[in-house]
Amino acid sequence: MKAIWYEKQGAASDVLTLGERPEPQPAPGEVAVTVQASGVNPSDVKMRGGARGPMAVPLQIPHSDGAGIIKAVGEGVDPARLGERVWLYNAAYRRSGGSCAETCVLPASQAVPLPDQISVKAGAALGIPAMTAHRALFCNDGVAGKSVLVTGGAGAVGHSAIQIAKWAGAETIITTVSSAAKAAIAMAAGADHVINYRQQDVVEAVKAATDGAGVDHIVEVELGGNLAQSAQLIAEHGTIAWYGSESSREPAFPAYPLMFRNVSLQGIFLYSITAAQRDAAIADITSALEAGLLRPLIDSVWSLEDTVKAHERVESGERSGAVIVQPGGAG
Ligand SMILES: NC(=O)c1ccc[n+]([C@@H]2O[C@H](COP(=O)([O-])OP(=O)(O)OC[C@H]3O[C@@H](n4cnc5c(N)ncnc54)[C@H](OP(=O)(O)O)[C@@H]3O)[C@@H](O)[C@H]2O)c1
Repeated sequence: MKAIWYEKQGAASDVLTLGERPEPQPAPGEVAVTVQASGVNPSDVKMRGGARGPMAVPLQIPHSDGAGIIKAVGEGVDPARLGERVWLYNAAYRRSGGSCAETCVLPASQAVPLPDQISVKAGAALGIPAMTAHRALFCNDGVAGKSVLVTGGAGAVGHSAIQIAKWAGAETIITTVSSAAKAAIAMAAGADHVINYRQQDVVEAVKAATDGAGVDHIVEVELGGNLAQSAQLIAEHGTIAWYGSESSREPAFPAYPLMFRNVSLQGIFLYSITAAQRDAAIADITSALEAGLLRPLIDSVWSLEDTVKAHERVESGERSGAVIVQPGGAG
């Protein structure tokens, strides 16, 4: 099969290799999937670049997310799954065989049925973005009837968070963005209020949108960079669920403002959520897809030969939505 792989960490153009690899066969409990779309996430490029510690395996076919069709099943897997359209998660997490190849073999539970109306490109944008968004929204009794602030609402996770919050019955969804183009994306996803955090006073704007009460729940892409403002706009008994803190890794902590309001801080690390949390995310994501309320945004689509460019696109920070590689060519 054709695949991309690396055997040492470094810049995409230095370490990513395109070539032929042996066709993998499913072991008991596994499925082999013809990969039609492979999703590139920040986690994949950070792992390749070395920013997430050393390699877990000697040879890495990258990308945890993907989508395609089951073409073989291992012993113990229902043969009725042959031909099933599926989306994949955690394919490259502590495993050699990621989705950036014509065939991906992985445990059957990591190949989730993809509703008919959802494209494989969208399917390849669910694993990390939608599941992270779901966990960040549901870590503390969910968001039904609550006011929610999603920072970075045009990002891959943020965009999914707006849509899933809507599906989950959030009362008010507020989001922050940095441009008019990103504001349009966030509005289309279902945000009720969009704040340009580079031009507006976010605390004042959130207070105005919530009659002064502040928000019950924050889905936070940048904990450290936004913590001082979050401490002023979170409501009593609110939750800050954060999944990133790139610009400020050891932020100053406004302890008393948060304590006086009984605020919970919940870190989210998708790869190690519990099986029950993962099952709940899959069930809810499937329901939101079927209801037409979750439609991942696609930024760009690349051939397998252009995987280096796909990685560089993610690293540029300029994308809005998922970056997809097509291992089997355009389809
Ligand atoms: N913990 C986990 O399990 C987990 C899971 C998924 C992703 N992540 C991490 O989360 C980060 C985002 O991932 P992604 O795939 O969503 O990336 P993305 O598509 O690039 O989105 C990031 C968004 O955040 C916005 N942003 C950056 N700083 C901001 C700030 N201070 N306030 C508001 N918005 C801000 C960016 O837009 P502007 O710069 O234009 O504002 C961009 O729209 C990455 O660092 C990734 O590694 C962690």
